[in-house]
Amino acid sequence: MAEDLKLTILKRLADGDVVADTSAAFKDVSVEAVLGALKSLEIQDKVTYETLATEVWTLEAEGRDQLDNGSYEAQIFNAVPAGEEGISIDELKAKFGAKAVLGQGKGFANKWIRKSGTNIVRVAAAIVDQTQADLQTVAATGTHPDASVIKALRGRKLIASKKLLSYAVRKGARFSTELKKQVTDLTTEMLQSGAWKEAEFKKFNFDSLGVSPGSGHLHPLMKVREEFRQVFFETGFEEMPTNSFVETAFWNFDALFVPQQHTARELQDTFFLKDPVAASSLPAIWPDVKRVHESGGYGSIGHRCPWAEDEAKKMVLRTHTTAVSSQMLHKLAQEPYRAAKYFSIDRVYRNETVDATHLAEFHQIEGVIADKNMSLGSLIDFLGVFFEKMGISNLRFKPTYNPYTEPSMEIFSWHDGLKKWVEIGNSGMFRPEMLRPLGLEDGVQVAGFGLSLERPTMIKYGIDNIRDLVGHKVDLGMVESNPACRLDKKMGKEVFQRTD
Ligand code: PHE
Repeated sequence: MAEDLKLTILKRLADGDVVADTSAAFKDVSVEAVLGALKSLEIQDKVTYETLATEVWTLEAEGRDQLDNGSYEAQIFNAVPAGEEGISIDELKAKFGAKAVLGQGKGFANKWIRKSGTNIVRVAAAIVDQTQADLQTVAATGTHPDASVIKALRGRKLIASKKLLSYAVRKGARFSTELKKQVTDLTTEMLQSGAWKEAEFKKFNFDSLGVSPGSGHLHPLMKVREEFRQVFFETGFEEMPTNSFVETAFWNFDALFVPQQHTARELQDTFFLKDPVAASSLPAIWPDVKRVHESGGYGSIGHRCPWAEDEAKKMVLRTHTTAVSSQMLHKLAQEPYRAAKYFSIDRVYRNETVDATHLAEFHQIEGVIADKNMSLGSLIDFLGVFFEKMGISNLRFKPTYNPYTEPSMEIFSWHDGLKKWVEIGNSGMFRPEMLRPLGLEDGVQVAGFGLSLERPTMIKYGIDNIRDLVGHKVDLGMVESNPACRLDKKMGKEVFQRTD
């Protein structure tokens, strides 16, 4: 079929050199089919064509009705019997419905009919239905010689304009009336037989889009993580290795001076491993940790509770990234003294009831700063700079309790929309009961702070159920199509100053 149309076009050109207007030459063929044929012939250089756009007027449903049955005013006129009595308005309404009102109005204006009491009577003896005649002209020619008629008919919504595409076609550089199948590949056989000399090769289409190469997509959490990493790098932090999700209770709790009787260490809060249940040994510093827990030291009286090696050997899924910070600080203490700034952004696990905003696993953003001059004031100062980079300048701190920091501060930010202070993180100065057994010398202070990665991400990407962000229900389309993330000043305000 398509081949036939192409041949027909070529034959027409052979006969007359040009086809001035395809809509006239191929009345019964759709514009799409004509264009398809022309495109294919153009690639073969057999024709060239240019697009002609003309405006034509077509009849709307009401226009078609009045073309077929007469204008409403003529229909009404014809329904009014000649004579004094005429017809009652109610009867016309019953017969013509909404058309009755329109037709009467026009009829009065044309002085064809008039009102007489509750009846309509004829004024004119006979009428000429000019509207119907005009509609006939438009239907036949697509327009009307009198522009005011077009205007009036359009005003009455009887006609509407439509763009009609057609094409003017000329012979191309390689015009012929023959259609050869075009070859796409040059083969060895063609070279050997010499068939390539006769072959017509298909032109390359450099405008066509290729198959897009498959690629991976970063999860929104990873995009936001990357932005935070950059903020840490900008402020001189080194990244901690957080690739081990399993830790001993020793590094997760004991080294942090969390008493062995603390509720966080119970099954309902922490995932304990079944296999292996426990580590075979503890780091060499354990006796000092035990001593500080049981009887104190470094200015502390300790928890004054028994401390068991077996409890510290238990394997857990880390409940916070501070389990890594404790090891890094211990490592730091093995070197000659230097100030250090460490950060990590990684997964932690808590045995929590899962709901729209809580999962049993989430990501923590954590920073620790070790320095001889580190004080609570310097921590507050640093947090100001850190959050300022995300556009948050209005911070407040509220005393809180962490087993491993004293003093401890919850970080609050003013939320413009909610008109209240909202919690954005946790922080504090690590206790000497933790730092000294790790080996950090007297006078070295360490400040730390932590926040979640999920909350800023959910707000940034407008996700209100965490299960749409993490887990088996995640829509991969969301991961593929979500935009890049920038923690610009504006975003900071959005992200951290919301609690919902
Ligand atoms: N580990 C704390 C938490 O899980 C965060 C924190 C880190 C607090 C460092 C103080 C110092 O919330």
